Order: sequence, then C-alpha cells, then structure tokens
Amino acid sequence: MKALILVGGFGTRLRPLTLTMPKPLVEFANKPMILHQIEALAAVGVTDVVLAVNYRPEIMERVLKEYEEQLGVKIHFSLEPEPLGTAGPLKLAEEVLTKNDEPFFVLNSDITCEFPFQKLVEFHKSHGDEGTIVVTKVEEPSKYGVIVHKPNHPSRIDRFVEKPVEFVGNRINAGIYMLNTSVLRRIEKNRPTSIEQETFPAIVKDGLLHSFDLEGFWMDVGQPKDFLTGTCLYLSSLAKKNPKLLVPNSESYVHGGNVMIDETAKIGKNCRIGPNVVIGKGCVIGDGVRLQRCTLLPGSKVKDHAWIKSTIVGWNSIVGKWARLENVTVLGDDVTIGDEIYVNGGSVLPHKSIKANVDVPAIIM
Ligand code: GDD
Ligand code: MG
Repeated sequence: MKALILVGGFGTRLRPLTLTMPKPLVEFANKPMILHQIEALAAVGVTDVVLAVNYRPEIMERVLKEYEEQLGVKIHFSLEPEPLGTAGPLKLAEEVLTKNDEPFFVLNSDITCEFPFQKLVEFHKSHGDEGTIVVTKVEEPSKYGVIVHKPNHPSRIDRFVEKPVEFVGNRINAGIYMLNTSVLRRIEKNRPTSIEQETFPAIVKDGLLHSFDLEGFWMDVGQPKDFLTGTCLYLSSLAKKNPKLLVPNSESYVHGGNVMIDETAKIGKNCRIGPNVVIGKGCVIGDGVRLQRCTLLPGSKVKDHAWIKSTIVGWNSIVGKWARLENVTVLGDDVTIGDEIYVNGGSVLPHKSIKANVDVPAIIM
C-alpha cells in the first residue's frame, strides 16, 4: 500500500519551535510528529510513503533516512516548485501513487489520533466508491472542514464545507483520507488546488465520497495550545492501551499519572511530576521541581524548585531556580530563563535570555 503525507506550509502557528526545526520533526511525546504517522502506516503494510513538501527537505531527509530501513518503508520526497495546496501534491506524486491500482492514504501532517488504518481500509473497500474521509466530532467546528450526510444514509456525504461561517454540523474532517487512484484524474497538473474546496465537493456531487467515524481522541496539534491538549489526550490513551511507555504511578515523584520520561533524562530529589508531562532525551531536572501539563524537549534543563505548567520548553533551554512558567508559554531553542523569573504566556524566540518577568502573554524577540 501507499500513502502521501501533506507536509507543506512553514508551521508558522507552531513558532517559535518551527524557527529552528521543521514542524514534522518537532517531538510529540518524545518522537518526531511525522514518525507517529509513518510507524502507524508501516504497521498496516504501507511500503511507500510520499512526503509532499514545499521547502527544501534536507534536515528531514537526513533524520528520516534511518527509519526507512528500520520500518521497511520507502520514503519519497516530493518537492513542489511552488506550494500546490492540499490536492496539487497528489497529482505531482502520481507516479508513486499509481504504482498499482490499490487505494492510497492521505494524511495532514499535524494531526494525532489512534490511526485506525486497518479498519479504514476495510471500510473503504466495503463501500467500493471513490473516497473515504475520517471524521470526528468537535465542539467548535468553524476552523475545520465540516461534513453533512445524505439523509437516510449512514456514510454517504451530501456536503463538504471547509471552514464554515455558519453552523452546518459538528462532524469534521480529521485530515485522514483513503482514495482510489481515479481521484487523481480529477486534479489538474501544476496548479495549486485545494482538496477541501475543489476535489471533495466534486466527488460529493457524484455521490462517491463516504465518511468513517473515528474512535477515540483526535487533535490538530499545529499550534502550542492544541499541542499541549493533544499531548494530554495521547498520554491518556497510552495509559489505557500501552502503559509500559509511561512511568509507573508507583514512582514517588509521579503525581496524577500520564508521565513519559526518556530513559536518558535525569530527575532530581523531591520532585512532583504530573499529570500529563513529557520529558525528552538528555533533559536534566533539579531538586524539588514541580512539572504539570508540559513538554520538555530534548536537552533542556530545569533548575531546582522551578514550577512549570502548560508550557513547552524548547531544545537545550535552561529554566532557572524558582522560575515559574505557565499559561501556554513556549520557549524556542536554546533559551535561558533567569532565576526567580515569572513568564505568563510568553513565546520566547530562540537563543534569548530572559532576565525580567513577562507578566502578560507576549512574543519576546
Ligand atoms: N505539500 C503541501 N503543499 N502541503 C500543504 C500545503 C501545500 O501547499 N498547504 C497545506 N499543506 C499541508 C499542511 O502542512 C497540513 O499538513 C495540511 O496540508 C493541512 O493544512 P493546514 O494548514 O494544517 O489546514 P487546516 O488545519 O487549517 O485545515 C485542514 O485540516 C483540518 C483538520 O486538522 C483541512 O483539511 C480541514 O478540512 C480539516 O478539518
Ligand atoms: Mg492543520
């Protein structure tokens, strides 16, 4: 089987992390975001993954090379001369996607869920039509693509409305599709095209698009607030399905569960960690540190008695003694927060040193 992952865009909503790292490589629960997807695809027998990119992918090529062999998948980079939107890249990768007549997967690169690919394949084959969109329910549907069904039909889609201004329903496009190769005939070559605004409405018109209901959690983690929420959902799911990947709750410093710590990280004495904390490779945590609902990216250091909540600490950053970070604070690569400093919702650019309190949410350049 084959898959294409849409990896374009500059990840501006995930700044300052994406100023020094391509979004798909930012570690989500201690693993590059895109690797969660590639692993799940490989697990159902996908052998060819196309990464559709519109910037030079050198760093990604280097990082992903080692996984090709490990996972037994061929990773193809498909570089767009100009951004081709969400459908144009499929046409550009036509050669790989039409290697055989089997349907292929398409994924937005910034979403997390339990990736039920096997069930999706079975469902898609069972209805025999051109495409299947995975859908999930959300409370605030206006930032997504909304799906409306044919009356009296369990899965056939009647309307697809991208970013609706008025309420049309709360079942939304989760950014995972399975499509027959015939869909490629609907897309023009070398023209930026939106799958949501052009291709899907055309397939809907012919009555050939179906929805598949997602079980379990789902989140678009393309911005810091949602990245933190998505991490909580992912860790809660692991606690049920694969608790071995979490630190056992019997560990004295774990508080409230859902704690993931890389084996190379060091934890000081008398810490209180959790719930919903991810500590990356090589991190060093001092004594008496309090961490909750946060991700510490590889190589970061938190000094004694710091207090961190709802925060992403960037690679190799240092948080000073008795510092307090909260309210969706994001530190870029190599940031230093001074001792006893308070940061409330700060977005701190790479290589900065913060010596004064940040009392209200702000971008610190
Ligand atoms: N290769 C390539 N080229 N990829 C692109 C381009 C492009 O020109 N433009 C966007 N992408 C990729 C993004 O990297 C992302 O993985 C995916 O296409 C979707 O783009 P977003 O910018 O993240 O869109 P969105 O989040 O506003 O909406 C999309 O995702 C929602 C689910 O999270 C839509 O598909 C909605 O319908 C959907 O509900
Ligand atoms: Mg998105």
